[in-house]
Parts: sequence; structure tokens; C-alpha cells
Amino acid sequence: MIYNMYTKLNQKTVSTIILLIVAVSMVISQKIPDFGIIPKPEIVQWNGKYSEIHNINKGTTTFSQYEKNIFEEFFAKAENSSSKSAGILFDIDETFQDEEYELNISKSEIRINGGSRKSLQYGLTSLLQIIRFHGFPLPEVYIRDKPALRYRGMHLDVCRHFFSVKEVKKYLDYLAYYKYNHFHWHLTEDQGWRIEIKKYPKLQEIAAYRKETLIGHYSDKPHKFDGQKYGGYYTHDEIREIVAYASERHISVIPEIEMPGHALAALAAYPELGCGGGPYEVATKWGVFEDVFCPTEETFSFLEGVIDEVISLFPYQYIHIGGDECPKESWEKSAVCRDIMKKNGLKDTHELQSYFIKRMEQYINAKGRKIIGWDEILEGGLAPNATVMSWRGKEGGIQAAREKHDVIMTPGSHCYFDYYQSESPDEPVAIGGYTPLKKVYHWNPVPTELKEAEKKYIWGGQANVWTEYIKTFDHVEYMAYARGMAMSEALWHAQKAYAEFLKKFVLHQEYWSGQGVNVANHIFEIKPVFESGNGKGVFVQFDDIPEGKKVIHQYGDTSESGFRFSLVEKCSHQFFVDGKNKSKPLQIVFHPHLGARSLIKIDPLPSAKYSGNGPGSVVNGVSGSDHKYGGTEWLGFEGKDVRISLDWEKPQKISKVTLRFFKGEGQWIYLPRMAEMKILGKNGILLKKVSNKDIQAESKIATIVFEVDAQEVSTLQFLIQNYGVIPNGAQGAGHGAWLFIDEIVVE
Ligand code: ACM
Repeated sequence: MIYNMYTKLNQKTVSTIILLIVAVSMVISQKIPDFGIIPKPEIVQWNGKYSEIHNINKGTTTFSQYEKNIFEEFFAKAENSSSKSAGILFDIDETFQDEEYELNISKSEIRINGGSRKSLQYGLTSLLQIIRFHGFPLPEVYIRDKPALRYRGMHLDVCRHFFSVKEVKKYLDYLAYYKYNHFHWHLTEDQGWRIEIKKYPKLQEIAAYRKETLIGHYSDKPHKFDGQKYGGYYTHDEIREIVAYASERHISVIPEIEMPGHALAALAAYPELGCGGGPYEVATKWGVFEDVFCPTEETFSFLEGVIDEVISLFPYQYIHIGGDECPKESWEKSAVCRDIMKKNGLKDTHELQSYFIKRMEQYINAKGRKIIGWDEILEGGLAPNATVMSWRGKEGGIQAAREKHDVIMTPGSHCYFDYYQSESPDEPVAIGGYTPLKKVYHWNPVPTELKEAEKKYIWGGQANVWTEYIKTFDHVEYMAYARGMAMSEALWHAQKAYAEFLKKFVLHQEYWSGQGVNVANHIFEIKPVFESGNGKGVFVQFDDIPEGKKVIHQYGDTSESGFRFSLVEKCSHQFFVDGKNKSKPLQIVFHPHLGARSLIKIDPLPSAKYSGNGPGSVVNGVSGSDHKYGGTEWLGFEGKDVRISLDWEKPQKISKVTLRFFKGEGQWIYLPRMAEMKILGKNGILLKKVSNKDIQAESKIATIVFEVDAQEVSTLQFLIQNYGVIPNGAQGAGHGAWLFIDEIVVE
């Protein structure tokens, strides 16, 4: 049979197949996946051989200054070495797409072909990473590569904290290294205006500086301030220098000029632009402020003047005009706004915001440019040519794509690099949330809810680096660079290969650390995954264990599959990964109680963003952090009442039940309005209830204690009433409050 098949196929086909099998197994047997390249290239084919090239020389190619800089160290080595060196042969090939390239390292030649100068630079960047992470002799490898998404961006907020020209350039170098092609520069805010506008000198004198800054987290009350003047701005020359620097790296710069909200700094300089007349002060703490630009002719004329200068400085087609988080109180109160609404047939202040954005769009379009806005610009009607940046979730992006508008996805859940990246109690203070490396890596920027024809409107995705809690550039690196690598792969390559990515990440992380760059490294932190609330006690397994390693309990008794807690005594357990790369131990303080033996039901289920290890998280005998609500312990419910029941197979004697809630009003998290508990047992039903006025928080945690003396209890039922709509004047006004619950301790 085999013989027959062989005779039917011609010999050439067979040898091609054999060669292919060899090539595929060679690719699989590579020690360093993708020869260290991040983001993962689309096609990597290695023939298993090494080229004779042991050095790179300048050759005859014309390099840009940037390219010369990144290869300088190799060029120098090549000149001083007797080993065989090669130049790099570049060719622009119009059959390639704009960002597509081909890198071919053969026995004695290195060729890069691509559709544009940008493609060639991407090929060169891949070559650089092969040299750095694989080294000489180079593999005889063929790479053909192009991105899955056309827009790959990183953002930087320079308003909450200001970064020097040198630091912004470092950021651009990092972006280029991971093939990002957009830099979203957040230049104006309540806390500071950072772009020189020559027509309005008070923006430089007044709006660029705040008198002091909040110390600690916004949720730490009472607020304390540092008493130190803070600020700065970029001059026209500095902006031109940065734009040129970006351009040389094929990065387009999108300036963001916020309107109508987040405008307090501008109002402090020009109070006539607010509805209330002022005086206003550049904000000294974080959040959303009621004072915003008033939609008058005077404001439009001012903003048009600003846009004129912005256009003269930024050559890219797009200008971001914000549009997010604009409270409408000052407009509701204003007779001027009522007049404008009447004159323009606008039925509410959402339509007034839409009118504002549309007017600015018209002005910007007339100058040959286009606008981008945060997803709030959908409210009250989208401006005709606007691109939407979807940040509050993916819903805004889905709606905009369905309305045939271009979309950049940047949902807080995956793209906000100001969120915590680790659950370790040692992490520096961050705004909140929990977005570890792995979550970023597995993000799919293109919502599966969209039909094929709608998906083309998803231009790409972006990570945002808001800097309320990021004072220094070193800290920007810490928050952004590790996750930025994962994001680059999520945006570039549709196929996920996390285990391979981690191997490359280790090399990149070591490289950057060696360069004095503060790239976070949490990949050897093991993460607990609890199984609880199923009536069978508490069991823990571990996630993110490096390949070939296992988790050891401090007494050396973890089984392969995990660890079951004894339900008898309070105990502190330490787990660590064996081998050379020991992690910091994972500490779990386990406090057994009757809840840990119960079967739990929760209705509705927690939000997917804050679902811990599922409903059982609140009866696993482990208490969530007193400071952070992300992670495996706290469960978050958005705008909803929650019903929880705990059942026991055998009736229990219960004396006390304690519920725990998180309070972080700055993060839209409120204590419940009411909590009640029904005790179902041999003696019928007993009801216990507490209302809002009796639910008090000391700092961020509130506990409710129900003292009871009940025998033979088979079920506890809880109804926990959500606070409801967040009131005017507070952060997140108008949205449904979040409710966060952690351990329900039953004793
Ligand atoms: C945003 O985070 N306010 C866009």
C-alpha cells in the first residue's frame, strides 16, 4: 500500500514533503521561540542551519539615524573583528502591504524586503531582536510578517504627572521596539495644560501649574496634599522635536486636547470659558470635576485658536478631542446653555455635548483633519466622521462599528496599565483594578459580537497609561513595559502562544533590566485558584507555574494537583515554586468557618470583570485585601442587588455571621443600602436586617455583623441591596454603583 502510494506521487513532491516535515520539526525544536522576537511574527521558518555571518556591517544600505543608532554597537564590533560579516540588503517591494516585511537570513546574506520604509524598519527590528536574544551565528531563517491590526497604540498622560522630552523619547523607543505605530499623547487635563499655545499665554502662566498635589490614594480620607507647586509644559520646539523623533520611528503622534470636560486647568487661566464665571483653580486632586467648558461662541473661538496651533505642530491626520466624563451640572444650571439648546433645537444636555463635539469636528474636518473621541461621544448622537475610542468596555466600540465608524478598542478591563498587575501586598499604590500580564496577553481586540462586515471598522487597540499614581518615568516603565509586550503581541498576532511568549518575555525582561529599565517581572508569581462553596471544603490549585517547575508547600506536602485546607484551625500557609527562579512565596492565611463547608448560590453572578474565583470566593476562608478590590477574593456587581444563599447538608448551629464590603466612592464602589439575612432551620424563618445608616466603613472596609443564636440551620439567605445610581457631584455620577462583597464568615 505504502509502496503504491509512493509510486503514484512523483519523487519531487515526496522530497518536498520530507523537507517540510523537517522544517516544521526544526521550528518546533527551536530553543527560543520565534528566536526571541516580540511581537510574534506570522511565519518563521528555520532550516535548522546556522549562517556563516558572525557580524553585521554597514554595507551599502542607507540607514535612518534611528536605525544607525540601534545597530551602532554591532557595526562597531564588525569593524574590529576578523570573522565573517555581512551588510543588510534592503528592498521596497510593492507587492507587499504597507507594514508587511520579509527577513531572510541565508548562509552569507541578510535581506529585508517590505512594502514601505516602515516595513523595512520592522524587519530590521526583528533582526535586532534575533541578534540580541539568539546571538551569532545567526540562524538561517525566513520570516514573513505583518500585523493583524493596523492601529497599535500606547497612550501617555503627561498631565497628572509631567515627563521630560528625554523621557517621552525613551517611551517612543520602547514603542518602536515592539512595533507600535501610534502614540496618543494626553496633553490637557484638569490638573495641568501641557502644550504651549502662543495665542493664549495664560495657559503657560496659569494652566500649566497646580499649587499642590494629593498625597496617597483618592479613597484615603481625609485628603492630604503635599503643598508643592507642580507643573510644566512642552514648547512648540519641543513638540516638533518629539513628533520628528516619533516619525523617524514610523510612529504617528495623536495629540489629545480634552473638551468639553477635564478642562479645569484651562478654566483657571480663562474663567470666562466656564458657565459659572469662576474663579477656578487648577485641580490638585484626581477625578471628574463639574466645571467644564461652556458651549458658548467664546469657547468655540478659543478652542479653534488652540486647534489651529495644534494642527501646525502635529502633521498626523487625527486629533483626539476627548469627550469623556463631562458632567452636565454646570450646563443644566446655566441660562446661557438653555438658550443655546433652544436655538439649536437640542432636547437635553447630552445633545448639547453632541452639538459641541460636532461643531469642533466640523472645524477640524474643514482643516483637512479628523477627530477621535472617547466613547461618550456616542451619547446624544455621533459626529459624522468621528473615530471612537472605546474605554468603558467594548460596548461603545461595538455600537460605533455597527454605525460604520472606525473604532480603537481600549477597554479598561484589559488596556488600562494604571491598574494593578499583581495581587502582592507590596505593590506600589495604583488606581485600582487588576490587569495582570496574562490577561492583557489573551485580550482579543476585535469583539466576537460583530459580524464579519462590521469587524473591518475595528482599526485596532491601545493601552492607556494614566498617571495619577505614577509620578516618575521609572514608574511608567514599571507599569507599562511588561504589559506593553503582551499587548504588542495581542495587537500584532491573532494566534495566542502564551507559554512561548513567557520564554521570550524572560529574555526581554533581563535585557531591559540590564539596561537599567524598570520592567516589572511578575511572571514567577504563582496565583491561587480556589475551589470552594461546593459543600466540600476548600481546595487550592496554582496558576502560572513556569514550565518544568512545581509548587511546594512550606512543609513540603503539596500533591501534584493542589492543596486541600484542613477545616479545623486557622493557619498561615506558604507556597513557593522550586528550582532556580524561586518566586517570592505566596502566603495564604486560611481562617476556617462554617461558610467554608457550605454550598453557595449567587444571583446574579458577579461581573466578569470582578468575578474572583467564582461565587465560592466569598466562603473560601480567605479574606480579600483591605486596600484593593481586584483579584481572587472580592466579587463585584455593577448596579445590581445581590441574592446569596448558603446551604448545608447537615444542619448547623450558628451564633454569628459577618459580611464584608469594600468602599471606594472615587472608584464608583458604594456600600449597600440595605442587607438582610433569613435564617431557615428547624424553628422556621428568622429575619435580620440592617439599613444603610448602620453600615459604616472604617477606611475602605465595612462589616455587617448579625448576632444570632440559632440551632439546626440548613440555609442562610441574604439580600444585599445595591446603593443605586451614583449621585450628582460624585465620581461616576449617573452610573449604577458597584457593590463589592468578600468573605461571608459564618460562626
Ligand atoms: C478615560 O479613562 N476617562 C478615558
